[in-house]
Amino acid sequence: MCGIIGILGENSAVKAFNALKKLDYRGYDSWGIASKEKNEITLFKQTGKLPEILPVKFNSNVSIAHTRWATHGSVTEFNAHPHISSNKKIAAVHNGIIENFEELKESLKEQNYEFYSETDSEVIPNLVQFYMEFEKKDFITAVIRALSKLEGNYAVLFMHEDFNGIIAAKNGSPLVCGIGENEFFFASDVPAFLSHTKKAVYLNDLELAVASNNKIHFFDLKKNKEIQKETKIIEWNLEQAEKGNYAHFMIKEIYEQPETIKLALEQPKEKINEAIELINKAETVFLIGCGTSFNASLTGAYFFSELTKIKAFAFNASEFSALKNSINEKSLIIALTQSGETADLIDAVKFAKEKKSKIISIVNVMGSSITQLSDLNLMMNAGPEICVLSTKSFSSQLTILLLLASAVAGKTSEVKKIILNAANYITELIPIAEKKAEKIAEELKNAESILVIGRKEFYPLAMESALKIKEVSYIHAEGYAGGELKHGPIALIEKDFPVIVLSSEKTRVNTLSNAHEIKSRGAKIIGIDSIENKLFNEFIEVKEFSYANALVSIIPVQLLAYYLALEKGFEPDKPRNLAKSVTVR
Ligand code: F6R
Repeated sequence: MCGIIGILGENSAVKAFNALKKLDYRGYDSWGIASKEKNEITLFKQTGKLPEILPVKFNSNVSIAHTRWATHGSVTEFNAHPHISSNKKIAAVHNGIIENFEELKESLKEQNYEFYSETDSEVIPNLVQFYMEFEKKDFITAVIRALSKLEGNYAVLFMHEDFNGIIAAKNGSPLVCGIGENEFFFASDVPAFLSHTKKAVYLNDLELAVASNNKIHFFDLKKNKEIQKETKIIEWNLEQAEKGNYAHFMIKEIYEQPETIKLALEQPKEKINEAIELINKAETVFLIGCGTSFNASLTGAYFFSELTKIKAFAFNASEFSALKNSINEKSLIIALTQSGETADLIDAVKFAKEKKSKIISIVNVMGSSITQLSDLNLMMNAGPEICVLSTKSFSSQLTILLLLASAVAGKTSEVKKIILNAANYITELIPIAEKKAEKIAEELKNAESILVIGRKEFYPLAMESALKIKEVSYIHAEGYAGGELKHGPIALIEKDFPVIVLSSEKTRVNTLSNAHEIKSRGAKIIGIDSIENKLFNEFIEVKEFSYANALVSIIPVQLLAYYLALEKGFEPDKPRNLAKSVTVR
């Protein structure tokens, strides 16, 4: 979690502050900035969200800044980053978790180093000071020494009052470097510097970069030597990272889906062929992900069963290592992730690699950790997803999974056509469903709980619907397989209990018989289907698109979740307690 930015270049403080706004989806409980003016580091920190403009004036060409999602220590100014060394000469911002911070802190305290925060991160600049003072190392060498003592994850930026530059290093947390005209950027994510440059260098784990004197150098910390890195051109554009005329990123990203589904379809032929080979060679395919990406994994397992004879099963990435005796060199892992940085997924992939399994990832962020761990990456091409809730990345994931299953089944062109038709139809559907969703949200805003049911691939869709509703409106919601209702949850049903029923031609008979069971107990039913039914108190019509029904039916629920948040006065882009990119376990 947390967003970090460092800028070496003219007007760095204002640029860093504006860049921080592009990163606040990563954490938004406090923020801070450090700038070097002449030979002195000045800090400014605040709790709460970022203000409109930078409240202090800095005249500096070196700044580092941070937006926080608290892990160690509560939300206070002291705990906000940047943290500064005891001698006030070294400042650092950190994203990640230092697992051995307590022992490091204790030994530094014994040497009279002062600590002001409860964070794990504050040991980092102090450790650098220690190596500069006691081992008489220069700044860069002291940083390298300090990093070698850290256990855990970090993306960290350093500045020193006597050094006109920034040192950046990464191990397990995201960090990308932007190369501008006479300026350098280091950030947790590309949108932070997209308005300045599209040239980027992605750091791998245990790599370090030093930007100073208009030059940048990269080092491999394992081999202890300088390395050359490839500069990539970022394909995302600035508009994708801006809200434009939309009130929130969430609604903008829902509206983008016809386009992003089409972009997800554009997979290079050789990559699909490689994927088919890996899938066909595998004894078992395991689809893994967290949260929304898990719901997409489960939907994908249904796609594989529907279209192929492949044994494909979905697992929560955080539970995956429990399968220790079932994963081996004959297993293929399909890892789904928008950010490519989710710690639970990274652990699961590393575990599978140890067992010699092959890894295909379906991922949105180029250069992210998962892309570096996988044998084959299929990029979602969805552009930056800024709202903390995943919407467009879910439909992109479903699109690629459907594409893979159909490719294995030899039905690529048929299924591609269906997906394209569905994407075009979603353009028509969104404004119509939006009006309905707005009205239904008004009716449901005081509900304490909402159930969502569906069968077959609509079961994971029900789970995804419930996840969207609870994340953004804070109404308790649960997604169930229709057939499971009578095994317990039906006990909850009383007069006017809202239940969203997702059905289609393929599942209608059985799903509607579940709807009957709850309707007769007083449930208020919101039907999402291609045909209206007298059981429905409210109805949102969606057309049938065969294998691609799930892509279409999720749209009304995403809209409903959005309007429930607005009805309840909540900020949809930044739900409480959540942050995009969950880099903690
Ligand atoms: C839900 C949501 C989360 C993420 C999950 C995995 O709206 O955003 O549940 O889906 O944290 O994130 P990625 O896909 O980045 O691995």
